[in-house]
Amino acid sequence: MQTLAPEISLQDWLRSRRSVRRFDGRAVSRELVDRILETATYAPNAHNRQPWRFVVLESDEAKTKLASAMSDDFREALHSEGHSQEEIETQIARSRARITEAPLGVLLCADLSVMDTYSDEKRQQGEHAMAMQSVALAGGQLLLAAHAEGLGGVWMCAPLFVPEIVQQALDLDESWQPQGLVLLGYPATQPAARERLPIEKVTRFL
Ligand SMILES: Cc1cc2nc3c(=O)[nH]c(=O)nc-3n(C[C@H](O)[C@H](O)[C@H](O)COP(=O)(O)O)c2cc1C
Repeated sequence: MQTLAPEISLQDWLRSRRSVRRFDGRAVSRELVDRILETATYAPNAHNRQPWRFVVLESDEAKTKLASAMSDDFREALHSEGHSQEEIETQIARSRARITEAPLGVLLCADLSVMDTYSDEKRQQGEHAMAMQSVALAGGQLLLAAHAEGLGGVWMCAPLFVPEIVQQALDLDESWQPQGLVLLGYPATQPAARERLPIEKVTRFL
């Protein structure tokens, strides 16, 4: 298990996580995957219901199934946006390769069946939002746990737009609603930090 270098403060370490989109060929061990998933489950969550569900895509077969299923829908979307055939095929190939070439994918799902239900629509919407917020917090913690182990990762939004297609391709229970795909592996490069807005721009002190 990796430990933090004593010369780096925890604040600086938290700021050193990057979205990593290129990986070297090394496989990620099951032991490591278990550890980072378990750390992800320590994320804060609404009513401690832990509505997150994880689908670990380890095999080439699983990654290819997901990439192919999402490609078909992506192709249609690009078509209706009026892109040329060449552009479409280039974009499809890039997005497929991203998934199939990553050593590991973790599909983040939300299970709303463990949340409360309300007849009041506003209350129900709030409960739904709390489930999504909880899954997102687990995703963030997963990325940090991976970073702590020397891994890199990136959150891909694509499954959010085609949840039924993803469920069908991976034979998931209906209650597991796809929210995002985290690709993980050992970084091939260390990306530069992306600029952040200064807190004065995004904060009000009252
Ligand atoms: C909800 C969410 C969806 C994202 N979707 C994508 C995506 O589909 N493709 C991608 O390359 N990066 C995606 N990202 C990564 C962001 O682009 C990245 O976090 C942001 O640019 C900041 O860079 P950093 O993570 O390196 O600090 C997503 C991140 C989040 C939290």
